[in-house]
Amino acid sequence: MTDKINELLRRVEAFRPKTAAEVEEFRIRVLGKKGELNALMEEFKTVAPELKRELGQQLNRLKNTALERINTLRAELQNAAADQTSEAGDLTRPGTAEPIGSRHPISLMKNRIVEVFSRLGYTVADGPEIEDDWHVFSALNFPPEHPARDMQDTFFIEKNPDILLRTHTSSIQVRMMERQKPPIRVICPGRVFRNEAISYRAHCIFHQIEGLYVDEGVSFADLKQSLLYFAKEIFGEQTAIRMRPSYFPFTEPSAEVDVSCNLCGGKGCAVCKGTGWLEIMGCGMVDPNVLSANGIDPQKYSGFAFGMGIERIAMLKYGVKDLRLYFENDVRFLHQFDTAF
Ligand code: PHE
Repeated sequence: MTDKINELLRRVEAFRPKTAAEVEEFRIRVLGKKGELNALMEEFKTVAPELKRELGQQLNRLKNTALERINTLRAELQNAAADQTSEAGDLTRPGTAEPIGSRHPISLMKNRIVEVFSRLGYTVADGPEIEDDWHVFSALNFPPEHPARDMQDTFFIEKNPDILLRTHTSSIQVRMMERQKPPIRVICPGRVFRNEAISYRAHCIFHQIEGLYVDEGVSFADLKQSLLYFAKEIFGEQTAIRMRPSYFPFTEPSAEVDVSCNLCGGKGCAVCKGTGWLEIMGCGMVDPNVLSANGIDPQKYSGFAFGMGIERIAMLKYGVKDLRLYFENDVRFLHQFDTAF
């Protein structure tokens, strides 16, 4: 019986059909109800019990090989048939369109913001995501006991000396001040990292864009006018801004900037929580301590800085209610921004 099994196995392996019909014919002949495999199964019932184990295994192997071979051959011939129709088939038929991807809304918004500031003479600067304490904190006038230096707020890679993931792109501004003499006018987009629980309004990774302008005689009025121009460009001509006193270690005076709510026109709605205003960024005049720490004479020069979250600006502009959507990369979400900017 082993001989018969092996002989059929050899035929299965050597089988080279040219058409799908041949495969079907072969399938019926070998695996069909009255096929060769079932005939062997019948014969198997009569063999001596001590041979059953070995022969049973051989039969099983034969059956699986035959099934597999027939399935592969069938798929191969089907593919070949499809190829043939597309090659020699009707060339006037419309082609199948390849869907094209779209830029991520965060990239689109970043590019838009960069474009607005480049019209004001800003150039783009870049810097490392893994930073040292000096560029993220010390050079920016953070006192040693500031909570941002805590493990709860910052991802540290090494302690003493501290190596960490930057928590804001202000570190790029420090690098610019080190490298270049005033006038400095840069815009710094980049990814930042904070040790925060992920929710609809916070993420441990997000994107910021910060600006720095240092020159002789730069004033708060310059800052306000630049930001008003920015707000009108992004949120529309009718947009107003207001500044509220605030605190950052690296700016003095400091302010939070609000824009009039673009959804309700300032009347008050759910998004602006009835206030008519939306907070969009922090800003201020560069603290003289920061200028001197970076080798710039605060007697001669002054400057302003501002920083905003790109996700937040895009959320406010497009009414996106959950920050996490930006990170999930669901194409149904992403495609909505194809023509938005
Ligand atoms: N670096 C600040 C932040 O991450 C934003 C900021 C930048 C504020 C520049 C003032 C001036 O929140």
